[in-house]
Amino acid sequence: MTESVKYLLDESRMPKSWYNLVADLPTPPPPVLHPGTLQPIGPDDLAPLFPRSLIQQEVSTEREIEIPEPVRDIYRQWRPTPLYRARRLEKALGTPARIYYKYEGVSPAGSHKPNTAVAQAFYNREAGIKRIATETGAGQWGSSLAFAGALFGIEVQVFMVRVSYQQKPYRRALMETYGARCVASPSEETACGRAILAQRPDHPGSLGIAISEAVEVAAQRDDTKYALGSVLNHVLLHQTVVGLESMAQLEMAGDYPDVIVACTGGGSNFAGIAFPFIGAQLRGGQRVRIVAIEPAACPTLTRGPYAYDFGDTAHLTPLTKMHTLGSTFTPPGFHAGGLRYHGMAPLVSHVKELGLIEARAYHQLSCFEAGVLFARVEGILPAPEANHAVKGAIDEALRCKEEGISRAILFNLCGHGHFDMQAYMDYFAGKLTDQSYDEAELAMALSGLPSVTAA
Ligand SMILES: Cc1ncc(COP(=O)(O)O)c(C=O)c1O
Repeated sequence: MTESVKYLLDESRMPKSWYNLVADLPTPPPPVLHPGTLQPIGPDDLAPLFPRSLIQQEVSTEREIEIPEPVRDIYRQWRPTPLYRARRLEKALGTPARIYYKYEGVSPAGSHKPNTAVAQAFYNREAGIKRIATETGAGQWGSSLAFAGALFGIEVQVFMVRVSYQQKPYRRALMETYGARCVASPSEETACGRAILAQRPDHPGSLGIAISEAVEVAAQRDDTKYALGSVLNHVLLHQTVVGLESMAQLEMAGDYPDVIVACTGGGSNFAGIAFPFIGAQLRGGQRVRIVAIEPAACPTLTRGPYAYDFGDTAHLTPLTKMHTLGSTFTPPGFHAGGLRYHGMAPLVSHVKELGLIEARAYHQLSCFEAGVLFARVEGILPAPEANHAVKGAIDEALRCKEEGISRAILFNLCGHGHFDMQAYMDYFAGKLTDQSYDEAELAMALSGLPSVTAA
């Protein structure tokens, strides 16, 4: 093995296809249901929201789906992204582990989100769509879609969760720089936003509410479609470039992961790095332990039942079977805004049920501590969401130290935190606390789960 720190792929080695895990699963994921009939939905049910090409990807069972040339052309602005060997972190921890991280923060918006934003904008442009409405938590997704919209001449309207809108004003400025319009959610612009504000004028917002607002706008306007930054199969599919590149880069390093770690909000960066390795394992390849890290204040995979639920708070979406805390659950306003979602991607939930992945929940202070250590030795300042993965990887490396075993740990450093400096300032000022969710609110949200016995 060489002493390299970075494993870089030439542009010509960027994946030509996305990888679809559904093709290799031993059992297919449960169907998506129409909330009225409780019957599986068909493409027509989704047509008001998404272009046909994306609906086809949503239900595809093909193993490989070709990445269109114009999308690859834009990917080349920052892809392939580097794979680092965290030699300085290994030294600081005194661990025999070999720690690798895939750095998605080199994208224009600073995270993995443009991998799907560019693809979604492309398919919408192909379908003649002029406007897209979307939600955003911390603003990474909103700025990614704003960037993609600028490239394809599509107008973008972003509903940004109010607490993040206040915490991260520069994310909004970035979206506006790309030409998008960004409003705090809940807003006065939609019926569901107005209804929520009437009940609670200071509502901090949630991803579930922001999704409702964006879906409402898309459903009502013929010229507007909806785009989601996570959760859906086609979004996870687009993110598999991360894992596919990592595989080739680890081959350059002469290594293969024993453990893969990623944070999970809606599940897309996790799926992006993990699914190609899970697929290889299902096809007879090496077994890999895969660990999803979520915030203890929004513990979907570790506390949420696996049940049919709505993807949004106002119940405008179909029902999907997933780990959920209930669609009305509002997590506390902790800084990893991208992880404040009540549900988990149906495909990630399904692989959890199949026993192919594990999940762990961490409080935010220990994640910031891990992120600061990482910044001080590796130089890159992670996004608060990514700090969860850093913490997970460090814990795995410390376990290697305890056990005296050298394992290869791969984690997804899914974004930088340059727009999240208020969070770091609050951390250094001792203002951050380990917030817990309200047990009574969780119980209430779970009691509102739709009853679906037939499926
Ligand atoms: C940097 C970053 N990481 C992770 C997430 C969580 O989303 P996902 O689980 O879809 O990767 C977000 C979402 O906004 C994000 O901005």
